[in-house]
Amino acid sequence: MTVGVLVPAAGLGVRLGPGAPKALRLLAGEPLLVHAVRGLREAAGIGPVVVAAPPGEAGEVGALLSPYDVVVVEGGPDRVDSVARALAALAPGVGLVLVHDAARCLTPPVVFACVVDALRAGAQAAVPVLPVPDTVKRVDGDRVLATLPRADLRAVQTPQGFRRDVLEQAHRVAGPRHTDDAGMVEALGITVITVPGHDEAFKVTGPLDLLLAEAVLRERR
Ligand code: CTP
Ligand code: MG
Repeated sequence: MTVGVLVPAAGLGVRLGPGAPKALRLLAGEPLLVHAVRGLREAAGIGPVVVAAPPGEAGEVGALLSPYDVVVVEGGPDRVDSVARALAALAPGVGLVLVHDAARCLTPPVVFACVVDALRAGAQAAVPVLPVPDTVKRVDGDRVLATLPRADLRAVQTPQGFRRDVLEQAHRVAGPRHTDDAGMVEALGITVITVPGHDEAFKVTGPLDLLLAEAVLRERR
């Protein structure tokens, strides 16, 4: 089955502070989104790619990504909307779909391979995860309600992989806002499998993450 990738890249990057939308911020002189798409093109066996661009930036994004054979659509107000718009533009005949945040722009090819392998082995949905280093507590305002058993917790990354029919069903019935696609699939009662994530698949979220990303790129070069 052909593997397609949807790249939600339409976010504004509010937590990075004032500036261009996150996907267009520069990292070692190139937009974050260029790093992200180049990285996923380095993974083996990836077919069609659809990028959801920030509002009003589809033209510029198309020009930036012209060497990489991608379809560009305009994203929506929420991540879920951006993924849904990209999914609607995915070529027919693509049976397996990966959803990959542009913000995880340094994700190594091995992570893509692990997710695709899990799907090819029969999983309906597969997500890369890492152990959680901090102790995590549930709170109500400033009051601690509970300490969650850390051994049972995982931090979830992207690419998240799905059988296309499963992801389409999840988006058809998507109820309250979900922060990831696997969450929507779990809500259908479908089992999601975990595979090993990677430290370098971290999400560029705040200013410190940009420094970390620059350091990782320096180390690679
Ligand atoms: N995203 C998207 N469409 C949106 C919101 C987010 O395609 N309406 C994408 C982002 O571009 C990013 C990924 O979803 O690649 C993960 O979102 P996040 O890290 O939260 O990025 P932003 O929403 O841009 O950042 P912030 O929440 O700080 O504004
Ligand atoms: Mg966001």
